[in-house]
Amino acid sequence: SSHVLAIDIGGTKLAAGIVSGAGVLLDSARTPTHAAEGPDRVLDRLLDLCRTLLRRSSVPVQRVGVGCGGPLDTVRGLILNPPNLPGWLEFPLVARLQQALDLPVSLDNDANAAALAEFHFGAGRGTRHMVYLTISTGIGSGLILNGELYRGKRGNAGELGHLQVRVDGRACNCGGRGCLEAYASGTNIARRARELAAQHPASLLARSVPDLEAITAQTVLQALQAQDEVAVQLWDETLDLLAAGVASTVNAFDPERIVIGGGITNFGDLLFVPLRERVAARAMPALWSGVELCRAELAADVGILGAAAVALRERQGLPV
Ligand code: BGC
Ligand code: NA
Ligand code: ZN
Repeated sequence: SSHVLAIDIGGTKLAAGIVSGAGVLLDSARTPTHAAEGPDRVLDRLLDLCRTLLRRSSVPVQRVGVGCGGPLDTVRGLILNPPNLPGWLEFPLVARLQQALDLPVSLDNDANAAALAEFHFGAGRGTRHMVYLTISTGIGSGLILNGELYRGKRGNAGELGHLQVRVDGRACNCGGRGCLEAYASGTNIARRARELAAQHPASLLARSVPDLEAITAQTVLQALQAQDEVAVQLWDETLDLLAAGVASTVNAFDPERIVIGGGITNFGDLLFVPLRERVAARAMPALWSGVELCRAELAADVGILGAAAVALRERQGLPV
């Protein structure tokens, strides 16, 4: 048997699971990241989670796979300085985990890992050219090109959340400006909604919460469903920026399929239907023709299954 311990380190939550060699999730657990506490505290909580899983597992585990927000250095096993994990400066995650768990550890970008999972077990099956885009706390992606995950020199290829969709636009946590993530991540949709709500106190968006700090992307969705004008305007701008990012991606990679995952998929048809139309209006017609833009299949477990794919790839030579 070849089971792995899979770890997903996100800006909002930590998740871990025991996964079989066939990609079946046997057990899992999660806990909030509390990213503001910094890497040592986060690592302690993560190790507690892992030890709990290992203790109650009836099967031995041979390897650990980790997906974590970038930028990172998969060659040296470091987390460099991720936009959504403040204080993780050249953090030696692989060495620290290897030491604490006494198991070999493989690391990849969280969205790369999720792309592998969707490619092998989910919405990417049957393709050879697929882009996975996750829109949650941050925006990340994984590029499957010619049937393989394309990593770049240190594992950072496909940082599509940091495509610049507005020259000199809003400041992004990555240090850049005008990044897609600075507008369209769940966190930044909520932030823009708070700004608009402050300017339009009579709007449903503003009135639906006790105070503006309580606004989340979910509040925006509810106001949008009630056709609140301010929410409609915010979502319209968000869709245009997403369409610009997706159209540029289509033009850059000539994919067959674009799979979208993350919390934003809760917007359902309010996302997918207009996004397809707007990408069609922006991408080069010859490249867009026939591209499927669809929803991820693996839902909440995608991060864990992705991290498992990162480990299994080393153990049993998954094709990527
Ligand atoms: C990071 C990516 C990551 C994404 C999702 C972005 O801010 O730059 O590396 O994949 O968030 O977590
Ligand atoms: Na990536
Ligand atoms: Zn950025």
